[in-house]
Amino acid sequence: MSDKDDFVPALGRKSLTWAYDLAIALMTREATWRRGLVAAIAPQPEDTILDVGCGTGSLAIMLKRRCPQARVIGLDPDPDVLRLARRKAQEAGLAIELVEADGQRIADTLHKGDPNKVVSSLVFHHLSLAKKRATLGAMLDVLRSGGRLYIADYGLQRTWLMRVLFRMVQNLDGFETTQPNADGVLPGLIAEAGFEGVAETSVVSTPTGSISLYQAHRPQLGATEQTVATAPMTAR
Ligand SMILES: C[S@@+](CC[C@H](N)C(=O)[O-])C[C@H]1O[C@@H](n2cnc3c(N)ncnc32)[C@H](O)[C@@H]1O
Repeated sequence: MSDKDDFVPALGRKSLTWAYDLAIALMTREATWRRGLVAAIAPQPEDTILDVGCGTGSLAIMLKRRCPQARVIGLDPDPDVLRLARRKAQEAGLAIELVEADGQRIADTLHKGDPNKVVSSLVFHHLSLAKKRATLGAMLDVLRSGGRLYIADYGLQRTWLMRVLFRMVQNLDGFETTQPNADGVLPGLIAEAGFEGVAETSVVSTPTGSISLYQAHRPQLGATEQTVATAPMTAR
């Protein structure tokens, strides 16, 4: 893998990306957890929502459909999956901004304080522990003061059955990135990054393990700090 390709593709192997949407629909009870996630995010006309690891754009499209006035930005390091996302958004007639970048380098692409909501689905089980930490740090950094974080991903696998079913995902995506999720590290890492009010708001059992929805928010900064935090870092 070159540095540029240093990411786990949507279905674990580049050759399978074309089948991603079908696999997720069949294997994750997608409608249930995505609907729950969109309801929690509750997009509003004044929102700027950043979807980190947007993949084929399914979540970004649902958010934009729910609230066409909201600004929705999808970010992913994989140009192949972004091509699929672009095509889906065009076919749906939705103006979604798509950016090729990884979740650790959000600040290279977006101004600090642009998004008031940062969201992510099924991405953290693709990231090494170091990248989970760096991505959460980058998410916190780019969010407005008081802005909200919403994550859906395979989380703590609480029962023998869920742990066995999750093996299917682990065999595709690798154990190094997936096992910490199964061991329940995400809430602790979210808090460690500096988010407050970390909560696991629901757990959905699926044929490939349980998917958890998490929420948290960036602490409200004082007026002086906020002026600094929302100043653009670089002209983009
Ligand atoms: C399983 S897919 C999830 C896609 C989409 N969020 C969804 O809900 O269907 C994981 C995505 O994470 C992306 N990804 C992998 N490493 C990443 C990183 N370091 N930063 C951001 N996204 C990453 C992959 O390219 C892939 O599109």
